Amino acid sequence: MVQQLKAIIFDLDGVITDTAEFHYLAWKAVSEELGIPFTRDFNEELKGVSRMESLEKILVLGGKQNDFTEREKVLLAERKNNHYCRLIEEITPKDLLPGIGDFLAEVKQRGIKIGLASVSKNAFTVMNHLNLTSEFDTIVDAAAIRNGKPDPEIFLRAADQLGIEPNACIGIEDAEAGVAAIKAAGMFAVGIGKAERLAQADLLYRTTKEMQFEEIYKAFISQK
Ligand code: BG6
Ligand code: MG
Repeated sequence: MVQQLKAIIFDLDGVITDTAEFHYLAWKAVSEELGIPFTRDFNEELKGVSRMESLEKILVLGGKQNDFTEREKVLLAERKNNHYCRLIEEITPKDLLPGIGDFLAEVKQRGIKIGLASVSKNAFTVMNHLNLTSEFDTIVDAAAIRNGKPDPEIFLRAADQLGIEPNACIGIEDAEAGVAAIKAAGMFAVGIGKAERLAQADLLYRTTKEMQFEEIYKAFISQK
């Protein structure tokens, strides 16, 4: 049976705006202060992953997972977040990724709901800077989520807040963990990025600029 499309649930960092780059820069600074070399390739593994889990992964990368107390780890994560918060202060509505403004307008114009599923505790700040908070039908509060991506919890919560069945939703993600979360939630997954990382996506675009609503819609309604 062809399922009607009722909602599109967006990731924020790296899908709506380029804050994925700011997370990268902030972690790179902290990681290198700790003497742990930090590459873009490794950074891919942190996309969609919570702040404390990201820190744990970096410490394991550097073989330093037993070198810090819990309190010291909290301070390291705070250092990263302070750096990140300075970077996002400058965000304005002009900082939407290419094509996203038109895409959001088209989705709304067709009467399809839009939701946000970001595990970032800074998501509301970023959305306010972009002037998008009131445009979205629902935004999940990351502080109320127990399990980060690849767990489906945040996508299921977004669908639940909208009162829509998961199989009537499309999720859009740039992270491997995010695409896995969408699929685990039983939704149609649109990936933004490279096939090597996002092979699980039902439809893949290299960048947001190439996203076409009509193409996504056709792929959604023709899924098995
Ligand atoms: C995700 C990012 O959206 O949010 C991750 O992809 C980040 O890189 C996570 O670690 C948590 O963000 P924050 O702002 O709460 O540290
Ligand atoms: Mg992302």
